[in-house]
Amino acid sequence: MGHAEFELADRPSAAPLSLDEYWMPFTPNRDFRREPKMVVRAEGVWLWNDRGERLIDASSGLFCVNAGHGRREIAEAVGRQLAELDFIAPFTRGHPGQFELATRVAALTPGDLNRIFFVNSGSEAVDSAMKIALAYWQAKGQGGRTMFVSRERAYHGVNFGGVSLAGLVNNRRRFGPTLPGIVHMRHTHLKENLFQPGEGEHGAELAEDLVRFVNLHGAENIAACFVEPIAGSTGCLVPPKGYLKRLREICDAHGILLVFDEVICGFGRTGPAFAAQSFGVTPDIMTMAKGLTNGAQPMGAVAVSERIHDTIFAAAAEGAIELFHGYTYSGHPAACAAGLATLDIYRDEGLFERGAALSPYFLDAIFALRDIGVVADIRGYGMLAAIEVHPDGVPGKRGHAFQKKLFDNGLHLKATGDAAIVAPPLVATREHVDMIADILRRTLKAL
Ligand SMILES: Cc1ncc(COP(=O)(O)O)c(C=O)c1O
Repeated sequence: MGHAEFELADRPSAAPLSLDEYWMPFTPNRDFRREPKMVVRAEGVWLWNDRGERLIDASSGLFCVNAGHGRREIAEAVGRQLAELDFIAPFTRGHPGQFELATRVAALTPGDLNRIFFVNSGSEAVDSAMKIALAYWQAKGQGGRTMFVSRERAYHGVNFGGVSLAGLVNNRRRFGPTLPGIVHMRHTHLKENLFQPGEGEHGAELAEDLVRFVNLHGAENIAACFVEPIAGSTGCLVPPKGYLKRLREICDAHGILLVFDEVICGFGRTGPAFAAQSFGVTPDIMTMAKGLTNGAQPMGAVAVSERIHDTIFAAAAEGAIELFHGYTYSGHPAACAAGLATLDIYRDEGLFERGAALSPYFLDAIFALRDIGVVADIRGYGMLAAIEVHPDGVPGKRGHAFQKKLFDNGLHLKATGDAAIVAPPLVATREHVDMIADILRRTLKAL
């Protein structure tokens, strides 16, 4: 493989960057080395490349930067925290920020999801949630409940628990054997719901797949059912009307825990703080990350119902560790400071309400692209939408080309397969939405 390097236009006197050593995640690295797409600065909804050209960030980085880029309040809070207390062992030692942030997060979660376990990413949140579910059933004396039910087209991060839950073939196929005892319900993408904004009219009955697993495996063997309320990474699959409520009923009838993975949906993406509130369904455990710190620090969390937490605590001897799990950087002081500053911004600027108010305009603008021939489907809810293009031979080829051309035309977003996912920061205005729709239209027409 040849040597690749890149001369940064904004650093003409510096030595060129070698592109050989850094192995980029989820990236066609060889393609990137031929055509590097560098970003050097960000503010609000804007990104700048090294040539000083401005791009609009139509996917909030990677669905993280809900309050927009370059928030000084967060940077300053992190700086202050690092100067005061840079690190404290998270096992058996605490610092105030962890407790303050947990209280603030618990105030946003629905129901009694008031016990908060901190981690460093969405992937860690998912694997932690799986372990908490297993620990709960052991504590309750029902240790036979070890199976998990997930869903086709699900994305739950890249650690082994999440990969085993995953329903995206490329994220699984090279890494087997994945964990045993995981079964997948059908996904909810139905041709009857094509181009349907919001929840589809068809498909609530797909929740009955969970009943089939109960009938096949026995509820006494099933620990939990994991779903993303809106399947995000696969390209915004909004649940059909009544689907999540039905899952909740089936879980209740059979004592199965319901886990919502809100890593993308959380922090205002669907209107309220969490999609659980948008769809009126409260899970037993909820995972979150991304918008928790506005992407400024790596952090995730698992919100757990008091009932589950108390059961696990009650099963441990007084003075003993209740859960043998945690990370060196769980509740890192800098991440907690970023989280607190982020939640202040969301509250003080009313950003969840602002996103909810912009959503109809945003969805109208995106769904107006349906007249372009190459567009196969459009889906959306809140400030999250996906435009799927017809495949060009190999699945994902046209989607990748689309995403690259968008970048060249001044727009950044995340594409998965042939679906481009649009999720602007919640600070975006109607003018920003118009600009995003305009670049999307121009690029789609030229595809
Ligand atoms: C629903 C969901 N779960 C988990 C993850 C993994 O998060 P991370 O990349 O922070 O590990 C993601 C990432 O996009 C996600 O969308």
